[in-house]
Amino acid sequence: MAADEIEIRRLTSADVHEQLAALASVLEDCVAGGASVSYLAPFSHEDARSVFEGFAAEVEQGRRLLLAAFADGDLVGTVQVILALPPNQPHRAEIAKLLVHRSARKRGIAQLLMEGAEAEARAEGKTLLVLDAVTGGDAARLYERLGWTTVGVIPGYALYPDGRPCDTTIFWKTL
Ligand SMILES: CC(C)(COP(=O)(O)OP(=O)(O)OC[C@H]1O[C@@H](n2cnc3c(N)ncnc32)[C@H](O)[C@@H]1OP(=O)(O)O)[C@@H](O)C(=O)NCCC(=O)NCCS
Repeated sequence: MAADEIEIRRLTSADVHEQLAALASVLEDCVAGGASVSYLAPFSHEDARSVFEGFAAEVEQGRRLLLAAFADGDLVGTVQVILALPPNQPHRAEIAKLLVHRSARKRGIAQLLMEGAEAEARAEGKTLLVLDAVTGGDAARLYERLGWTTVGVIPGYALYPDGRPCDTTIFWKTL
């Protein structure tokens, strides 16, 4: 499937609730695949649903934007823009939870999600974005390709789902 058959959409909190099972499946699949995205194994579908219920509340409060990627109408990926930062950083946002189901990878979906997230952040008046990623991982390669600047590596910053430590690279990009 080509990337141009993918639809990227910003979800309201009602949309997030409507898509809760699909969003939870994407997160559950990424954690099962060993992604270091905040959660440790064992991580169930119910755990993943609770996580996205929390995000839906933040979308409702305007604290986060949540985008989703649909392939033939099925939700296969997602990304978030965190808007709720301290008062002295009104121009800045953070990118988080870029997740693509393993069955939908390497079709350009993450790139489309990132382009959508950047456009939404710009539309919110943001001019500086920050994110972090596992050093040397698939996501880090994507961010470098999309023009993000590497700040540096923090050794042992987080854990993989199986508890092994992983190094993390911090990136920034101006819009
Ligand atoms: C990182 C992640 C989001 C990337 O998702 P993705 O949709 O596969 O990303 P893309 O398709 O845009 O790019 C991935 C690769 O496919 C390639 N690709 C893109 N379109 C392609 C196509 N039509 N045909 C073949 N390859 C393609 C890209 O060039 C890229 O190549 P690379 O691995 O050599 O760098 C995904 O692997 C993931 O969800 N990982 C687990 C969660 C995670 O770690 N998230 C990041 C948190 S910071």
